[in-house]
Amino acid sequence: MSAPFIAVEQLRKTYSVKRGLFGRGRPLHAVDGVSFEVEAGGTFGLVGESGSGKSTIARMLLAAEPASAGRLRVGEHALERLGRQGARQFHRTVQPVLQDPYSALSPLMRIGRIVDEPMRIHRLHRPSVLDARAAELLSLVGLDPVMARRYPHELSGGQRQRVAIARALGVEPRAMVLDEPVSALDVSIQAQILNLLKDLQRERGLTYVLISHDLAVVAHMSSRVGVLYLGEFMEIGSRDEVVGQARHPYTQALIAASESRVDASRAAAGEIPSPMERPAGCPFQSRCPHASARCRVEKPALRALSPTHWIACHHDVPAIRIAPEAVAA
Ligand SMILES: Nc1ncnc2c1ncn2[C@@H]1O[C@H](COP(=O)(O)OP(=O)(O)OP(=O)(O)O)[C@@H](O)[C@H]1O
Ligand SMILES: [Mg+2]
Repeated sequence: MSAPFIAVEQLRKTYSVKRGLFGRGRPLHAVDGVSFEVEAGGTFGLVGESGSGKSTIARMLLAAEPASAGRLRVGEHALERLGRQGARQFHRTVQPVLQDPYSALSPLMRIGRIVDEPMRIHRLHRPSVLDARAAELLSLVGLDPVMARRYPHELSGGQRQRVAIARALGVEPRAMVLDEPVSALDVSIQAQILNLLKDLQRERGLTYVLISHDLAVVAHMSSRVGVLYLGEFMEIGSRDEVVGQARHPYTQALIAASESRVDASRAAAGEIPSPMERPAGCPFQSRCPHASARCRVEKPALRALSPTHWIACHHDVPAIRIAPEAVAA
């Protein structure tokens, strides 16, 4: 395999959380030693329930927040060694598309201005050609260029997310971090936006990190998938391995939730422990139907089931076999 376009190694983020005004800060391990790679033009899907650390990883990938430890490289840019100029280049290389297009778009700006703003910031074009460039980007994402004169509140949710994608594409990024890009949209619109993202990826060779709490969305889009729980990977592998032959009890719970269309943000029974009171042993033990005495004391390390498929589980739980198409509704 050629060198991966994105490489993340033992990435950690620890916040200090204070109780009360004069309380001592206590550590909250939001991301706790996460490693993965994404090949150029590929999609890595990150899935996990609320609070598992997905957006924290996204912010570090976007250089919006420094890592507490570990290494992160996108293209030729290593996050730990970005000077001012490097940071500028980095922000051009990796662009975000976030969950809620309405709050991401300034309500007082016309769509054309919203789309050309990143190009202005990066001084990519002469002012006289910016209008034409914005019109081009709007048609690229399937919008009528006359939309440039409208305001965000005049658009539907799906149209607003198309605007956010056009805005991201203006600086000709090589990678995009998509953090819950369709979670705020009606189910009928979700597939349209995901397919637009797929088409753009194919045409432009873009590399994606796609974040969702919905395994069906991740399965539809990704070549590799990592399943996150309390800031750590429980399972990581190719899409067909993780979604088609899930071996970790947590992934299996996510699949069951996805199939029955229950609220996927609460996939397994029981409460997610607070990241500030992580249990000794396996992080998932309190909700796991297979938990044994060993799981309460000994933390399972990731172990290989195949050259590409890893789980952090002491047990050999039989795979749940399910066709990826079944979840990729
Ligand atoms: N700035 C911060 N200060 C303190 N704790 C934080 C901060 N940002 C996130 N956290 C905590 O880190 C953990 C991971 O949060 P994160 O937002 O990354 O989760 P997520 O997987 O994106 O969840 P969701 O699906 O709800 O978006 C949570 O326990 C959260 O409360
Ligand atoms: Mg999030």
